[in-house]
Amino acid sequence: MKVDVLLGLQWGDEGKGKIVDVLTPGYEIIARFQGGPNAGHTLEFNDIKHVLHTIPSGIFRSDKLNVIGNGVVIDPITLKKEIDALMKYNINFNENLLISKKAHLILPSHRLLDASSEKAKGKNKIGSTLKGIGPTYMDKTGRNGLRVGDVFEDNFKERYTKLVNKHKTLLDFYEFDYDLDSMEEEWMKSIDFLKNLNVIESEHFLNNKLKEGKRVLAEGAQGSLLDIDFGTYPFVTSSNTVTAGACTGLGISPNKIGDVYGIFKAYCTRVGSGPFPSELNDDVGQKLRDVGHEYGATTGRPRRCGWIDLPALKYTIMVNGVTKLCMMKADILSHFDVINVCTHYRYKGEVIDYFPYDVVDIEAEPIYKELPGWNVDLTKVTLESEFPKELSDYISYLEKELEVPITIVSVGPDRKQTIIRSV
Ligand code: GDP
Ligand code: IMO
Ligand code: MG
Repeated sequence: MKVDVLLGLQWGDEGKGKIVDVLTPGYEIIARFQGGPNAGHTLEFNDIKHVLHTIPSGIFRSDKLNVIGNGVVIDPITLKKEIDALMKYNINFNENLLISKKAHLILPSHRLLDASSEKAKGKNKIGSTLKGIGPTYMDKTGRNGLRVGDVFEDNFKERYTKLVNKHKTLLDFYEFDYDLDSMEEEWMKSIDFLKNLNVIESEHFLNNKLKEGKRVLAEGAQGSLLDIDFGTYPFVTSSNTVTAGACTGLGISPNKIGDVYGIFKAYCTRVGSGPFPSELNDDVGQKLRDVGHEYGATTGRPRRCGWIDLPALKYTIMVNGVTKLCMMKADILSHFDVINVCTHYRYKGEVIDYFPYDVVDIEAEPIYKELPGWNVDLTKVTLESEFPKELSDYISYLEKELEVPITIVSVGPDRKQTIIRSV
């Protein structure tokens, strides 16, 4: 069997959690492959809203296995809190949640380093979620990190102290005030909790399951425009959020990748700093934020809002090898008479149709095509045949431009508000 991958094509928060939840019945295993508690994936069903940060979005289906892969960075404190909050739903975490021995650990001092680095950057700050993601991946690539499997070793505390001492030197360099003691106590307790979870060699486990014919869905976090290589560097996260990240983050070879589901909002949002060519700093942007409830699921920060950006989407579809598209939040555009689509940019005096190298220092001014809105409430629509003509035209236009079929259209946050198209 092959591994299907589901990931975000914009700057995160596209609705990945919702669609993983919708697709989970078709898979035996759901696996996160990168990122960590910077993610906030929202699922809604039975009138309850859940936000997951480290746990894969298949956890609510009792017959599914959920793997936290080697490419993920885990903060045992947030993982414990997440599990504690879900205890009331009778989830069998010992059986259904599997954690890679090779996943790296976020230490309390990584969180402090994240905060001190942002403070030092001043107005150029990344707008990090301050969960310690960047410093943890830095220690991973710097070959200093601690992994989940290390917690079972006798010298774990020594190695922890050695790494923290290094971090303290850096924090002193940044002249950053901190109180590590209380954070450490909670962290060590959470490490004991982690030891009792199901820690495995997940690359062997997943490849064996594939051999047995089991279906695996890899759940991306963040979005392709936040990818460390292909995103709007340096305003990105510290992992490979693209399809290739599923190979390194799970130990799956590239020839085992099957379908790639690319998720995008029918418009565009971004939280944190960095370029966003089609951002709307006006009443229309504010209306998108209000109607779309565009506030971060992890930090509660208001999301920046703007129109859909085709050059950016074409780029992320290309680097991911997307085979199926999912268009989210179509219901939000029902509130607009006119919908704009960014088709080109004016860049260094020229009109271009691609996402340029430098959008940080050089402005890419969006050029729009205007399309008619549909002004029809979509939230109760269950069949594609009920779509207003303007929505069908919007979908056809995007499919023609993006050259990939839109197989899912989402018309509300609930699991049921999802239309699977027969394309
Ligand atoms: P993720 O990080 O990609 O999983 O996305 P988030 O959960 O951070 O943000 C998506 C938000 O949009 C959540 O609040 C979802 O409940 C909500 N959502 C998802 N799909 C739809 C949709 O089609 N319509 C509306 N109105 N809300 C949606
Ligand atoms: P999900 O999985 C949206 C953004 C942060 C910041 C930048 C770097 O819910 O889509 P980091 O904490 O990773 O060092 O922050 O990336 N960011 C996200 N934005 N959704 C996310 O995850 C994000 N994870 C990180 O706002 O701009
Ligand atoms: Mg999110």
